[in-house]
Amino acid sequence: MTRKHASLIGWGHYAPENVVTNADLEKIVDTSDEWIKSRSGIERRHFVSEDQATSDLSIEAGRRALEMSGVAPEDVDLVIVATSSPDYLTPPVSSQVQHGLGCVNAGAFAMMVGCTGFVYGLVTADQFIQTGAYKTILVVGAEVISKNLDMTDRTTCVLFGDGAGAVVLQATDAPCGVRSFELGSDGSQAEALIAPCPGTRNPVSQYAVDNRTHYLRMDGRAVFKFATRTMTESLQRVMGKAGVGVDDVDLFIPHQANARIIEYAAKTLALPPEKVVMNVADYGNTSAATIPIALSEALTAGRAEAGDTLALVGFGAGLTWAACLFDLGPLVGTARASHEATEATSGDGATVDSVIDDRGVVDGLIA
Ligand code: COA
Repeated sequence: MTRKHASLIGWGHYAPENVVTNADLEKIVDTSDEWIKSRSGIERRHFVSEDQATSDLSIEAGRRALEMSGVAPEDVDLVIVATSSPDYLTPPVSSQVQHGLGCVNAGAFAMMVGCTGFVYGLVTADQFIQTGAYKTILVVGAEVISKNLDMTDRTTCVLFGDGAGAVVLQATDAPCGVRSFELGSDGSQAEALIAPCPGTRNPVSQYAVDNRTHYLRMDGRAVFKFATRTMTESLQRVMGKAGVGVDDVDLFIPHQANARIIEYAAKTLALPPEKVVMNVADYGNTSAATIPIALSEALTAGRAEAGDTLALVGFGAGLTWAACLFDLGPLVGTARASHEATEATSGDGATVDSVIDDRGVVDGLIA
């Protein structure tokens, strides 16, 4: 069988309408716009409303990607959803997404690899296409982190946001797709970024809830150290595997957790700023969704064209990391020309008070 290649033929992203600014957070935790911006580069983030869940965001991003690709939902062979915040622990959120999009002939599975999940998903999809097993695959990265945030913990609640991004990959004979990759994991650092409950180690109990173990906890300094090291080293290794250097890569799309981490990697690898995508100011850390959102925005803005080489790199809970070089196939230009560019839903300026009130958790904080 001739080896096939994965062409990226559609992309899209979606962020919920509620925009929460740093000034909004100043009203509920002891923080400041200055602290958040100087430590993380984040200025605002999107939070879902009470009735929105991860599948809703995934379906909207997936719908936009499919629309751009011109692929009918029933022609999708596989749906992969990378997320750490599924609607339910069971069933897998990927089946809600597959059903919601009308991908009636597709298999579907979810990948829980923290913020690294989308790159794991993309590399997995590429393998299915290379073997000829599947022709058309939808890969989604989506999160609703806000519902797992402890809004009394200033060390985490200011950093994260909600959103989704998606791409459609299709088999082609033209050389493109993943050129080299690295998937990494260091489980010895599991505690550095963890939501202990619910799970089989800590099932839901009054004790677990009273001790707020259902919220995300993070050792920020440990993650920072890990992130700066793995981001630069894994990028170097995937470029080395492909036999290319920084000059051969057209666009770097790193995980958007913190501007300082991205700037550190860019400086260490001497990446020209115009080749590095950074939108963390507008979304915060949307975990598995940051890379597909950044990719979607960059492609929509025309920052990469058919034949260009992208470098994607992520890190996150596990601790895990993943990097890949991805060559854009010939259809990218066609997709852009023949379909309206997708755009993130811009915020309506809802205040954090209304967002939090909707979720019924802030009354006690403000009082
Ligand atoms: N507002 C104001 N002050 C805050 C704050 C906030 N939101 N959060 C923490 N602080 C305080 C701390 O309490 C500490 O005070 P102290 O010195 O009196 O103890 C001080 O700011 C410095 O805290 P520190 O943790 O040393 O800050 P930092 O420079 O390391 O930055 C992070 C903190 C979280 C921004 C940084 O460690 C980071 O980005 N880590 C990586 C996180 C990440 O990427 N996570 C996602 C992985 S996918």
